[in-house]
Amino acid sequence: MPRPDSARTWLRWPETAGNPLAYGADYNPDQWPREVWDEDVALMREAGVNVVSLAIFSWARIQPSAGTWDWAWLDDAMDLLHRNGIGVDLATATASPPPWLTTAHPEVLPVTRTGETLWPGARQHWRPTSPVFREHALRLVEAVATRYAEHPALVAWHVNNELGCHNVYDYSDDAARAFRTWLEARYGTVDALNDAWGTAFWSQRYGALDEVLPPRVAASHPNPTQQLDFKRFSSDALRDHLRAEREVLRRLTPGVPVTTNFMVMGETRGMNYAEWAPEVDFVSNDHYTHPGPQSHDELSFSANLTGNLAGGRPWFLMEHATSAVNWQPVNVAKKPGALVRDSLTHVAHGADAVCFFQWRQSSAGAEKYHSGMVPHAGRDSSVFREVVRLGGELRDLAPVVGAHRAPARVAVLFDWTSWWASEQDSHPSDRLRYRAEALDWYSALLAAGVRADVVPTGAPLTGYAVVVAPVLHVVPQALADELTAYVAGGGHLVTTYFSGVVDEHDHAWLGGYPGPLRDLLGIRVEELEPLLDDETVTLDDGTVGTLWSERVDVTDDAVEVLARYAGGDLDGRAAVTRRRVGSAAGGDAGVDGGGSGGSATYVSTRLGVDGLRPVLTAVLDGAGVTSELPQEVRGRVELAVRATEADAFWFLVNRTAEAVEVAVDGDVLLGERGQGATGPLVLGPRGVAVLRRAAR
Ligand code: GLA
Ligand code: GLA
Repeated sequence: MPRPDSARTWLRWPETAGNPLAYGADYNPDQWPREVWDEDVALMREAGVNVVSLAIFSWARIQPSAGTWDWAWLDDAMDLLHRNGIGVDLATATASPPPWLTTAHPEVLPVTRTGETLWPGARQHWRPTSPVFREHALRLVEAVATRYAEHPALVAWHVNNELGCHNVYDYSDDAARAFRTWLEARYGTVDALNDAWGTAFWSQRYGALDEVLPPRVAASHPNPTQQLDFKRFSSDALRDHLRAEREVLRRLTPGVPVTTNFMVMGETRGMNYAEWAPEVDFVSNDHYTHPGPQSHDELSFSANLTGNLAGGRPWFLMEHATSAVNWQPVNVAKKPGALVRDSLTHVAHGADAVCFFQWRQSSAGAEKYHSGMVPHAGRDSSVFREVVRLGGELRDLAPVVGAHRAPARVAVLFDWTSWWASEQDSHPSDRLRYRAEALDWYSALLAAGVRADVVPTGAPLTGYAVVVAPVLHVVPQALADELTAYVAGGGHLVTTYFSGVVDEHDHAWLGGYPGPLRDLLGIRVEELEPLLDDETVTLDDGTVGTLWSERVDVTDDAVEVLARYAGGDLDGRAAVTRRRVGSAAGGDAGVDGGGSGGSATYVSTRLGVDGLRPVLTAVLDGAGVTSELPQEVRGRVELAVRATEADAFWFLVNRTAEAVEVAVDGDVLLGERGQGATGPLVLGPRGVAVLRRAAR
């Protein structure tokens, strides 16, 4: 089935919904007495809810024993929702196996790297590679799909739930068998595996594939390539499960789109979603914020990456929180305005759906302190009032539905393999955080008021004037060739410390770092010099580096040193460099003039959001990239743009807790202008406005 293009076509809304943007939540009626359901749908209508995800954790209720099925309650819930104009994203319900199954088949339970079994009692206690689990899960999918294939409330299928949230790494014997099969497909022979894994080291040479195990807890650091391949395998194993459920659904209901909710957020890293996105009919994502200075930037980063995983097409925000969650050390309530701003920031980055976990806050169970659309306090609460307000604002955004992301001129490259490999054990520093460095660049771009796309490696780069590739640790020759061609074509590349260090097998490139990017950058790094927690390095422009430093030699005359280490053992050595390429290297039409030549910039230490400003300014100026926002609001307001053939929709998001005025023209879809409605847009604290302007 082709991937649908817009919400208008990919979801068959009930006639009465009245809102082309999807709005709703996970709905768990099986946790409540029947009489509560009637109040639920009445409140859903009041809030403008038009979709719910149903039955996500209902396996034990639907199939109370191996041979019995209980559909009456679910029929009733589906019918009730349909009568009230609410569509259903129906779960396959396979996320949490019921006690009868794990009692009869304890061999489906996952095993940790130390050999402990993860027992039932929570959720998602299943091995992705268990044939027994797979058989029971697909039987359930088949039963649910057969039962509801023709139900008029059904708008989409929701495979499992957050695949890999708790069970991505399973070290069981099933996993060992499946890992060997996966390795055989990847390497063909045990000799090829020995070469790729570098098993000459520490007497690890395998005589046959059946000697290979997952990287279980060992006496010292397990083989790094074995670890990296196990990460690749584990992502693939869950993707196989997704495919298996999807195939049942496509066979039984070929016209109903299938999704599964990704977790593009924070430090959730086990699933390579760039490789998963082509498997679903529409991308959906869950996102939860963590408190801290970059909390909202991280939301924007994740939404942005999700939109680009969807190829710029609309996507579905399947879950976020109206207020607090229950699983952080301290679960803070959302600040005033944050519920609406968070939701609309996702829409700004391409979401055509705004859904929450969950509709009604549970009164029992591990998530009873997790917020919902209807909190414990009930309808008479500020959360529910905000929920109703948001429902109204989403109706005002009807014209946006179906609009794609308007590409930016700057890309931040996001590479799952580099994320996984750069943070493995036995490295120069265990303090390095791949995503934190990427987020710093994104925050620095937001601070400069410059729009960027967060794109996975493999996405086309040619349209971008600037590509920032932070900690691009794993650089196979083909990626080096792609980046070299990009710069030769006039692109401006930036990369950082610990990039270009290893190939796809996690073998170090020899002759100096950054390996196959050395000539492109015109530098050679002889030694990595990570910093202790209380150590810093100062550069001659006054910026301060933490975490990392490197002994950089400049090897090319076309390299300009943008900043040097000042003081300390690296005193006077290059810290930030830029090599001009093509006509930019030739003089007149130099990089600073925004000429047609490209450039390759290297940053050898961690500068942090503020410290990145000088190098970012140099790169953006060199590439001729400027902010689209008025000077006075840059940094205080985030701009994201969605577009159709005719219209460009400008989303202006107040990044601060104070009101901001923005002098931009366009028809106001959402928000207010001052001075008798003709003046600048007035964004309240954490406010969002949306303008309709002519597409360029
Ligand atoms: C995940 C799950 C939900 C719920 C939320 C709580 O996103 O999918 O079922 O547990 O977390 O934040
Ligand atoms: C010990 C071991 C060596 C090597 C070093 C590394 O001394 O005997 O094989 O692992 O540690 O520091």
